Amino acid sequence: MQGTSAKRMTTTDTTDFGFEKIPLEDKTQRVTKVFSSVSSRYDLMNDLMSFGTHRLWKRFAVHVSGVRKGQAVLDVAGGTGDLAILFYQRVGEGGRVLVTDINNSMLVQGRNKLIDKGIIKNIDYVQANAEHLPVPDNSFDCVSIAFGLRNVTDKQTALRSMYEKTRYGGCMIILEFSRMVLPGLMRLYDAYSFKIIPWLGKVVADDEESYRYLVESIRMHPDQETLKHMIEDAGFTRVNYYNLSGGIVAVHKAYKL
Ligand SMILES: C[S@@+](CC[C@H](N)C(=O)[O-])C[C@H]1O[C@@H](n2cnc3c(N)ncnc32)[C@H](O)[C@@H]1O
Repeated sequence: MQGTSAKRMTTTDTTDFGFEKIPLEDKTQRVTKVFSSVSSRYDLMNDLMSFGTHRLWKRFAVHVSGVRKGQAVLDVAGGTGDLAILFYQRVGEGGRVLVTDINNSMLVQGRNKLIDKGIIKNIDYVQANAEHLPVPDNSFDCVSIAFGLRNVTDKQTALRSMYEKTRYGGCMIILEFSRMVLPGLMRLYDAYSFKIIPWLGKVVADDEESYRYLVESIRMHPDQETLKHMIEDAGFTRVNYYNLSGGIVAVHKAYKL
């Protein structure tokens, strides 16, 4: 008995933070630190790193959602609001968009950007962990998360929370880095990811470490099929995915029926 309790006391659950193994309870704080550090340069870095392609990926994800005028959308880990802008254009005056993110700096950057674009009505912002979304169940026609799931400590709990908030008949959209399906380009992609991106992070955002985390976290994220099964385990059905840019990113769409 003594041996068991001693073992219990010394065993710590760990998780990945990029390629590093860290105590489970430290991850959310470490991720928050990353995005607080990069928030002011986040949009610029996205344009530079992806040569602007992230805008097309986001447009595609919102297009695939099929969201229509008058509908309600919850964008989880919404950061600087790129998806919120696109959803807002689709739902129109009669609809609503709620942006949630765990990080206040990212939310403030996003809110300011949307205000500058004149997007003020029918849009709200809530600071919240994706694992415990503080909104009523079955209340959104579409729940989305773009480049956010990778950073969440307990992904399955977040998927379940997103399922609960989706209306019956509604859908969930996940846009996330995934597994490249063009093996011939793998070495080039690796060289770009591990050499150029951290360097860009250093030069543009004065933060090489955060962008090294970004690249490593992409490699640790579940591939297309694994994520599909996780989405099904959360309760969603008719799960489908689209590979974009050779699988560098994928859009998963699933329904709550
Ligand atoms: C790479 S950014 C993506 C932002 C935006 N969705 C986009 O596509 O540009 C990841 C975002 O996830 C947020 N995030 C990380 N962990 C989270 C969590 N557990 N719950 C909610 N948001 C989280 C970060 O604060 C950050 O704003």
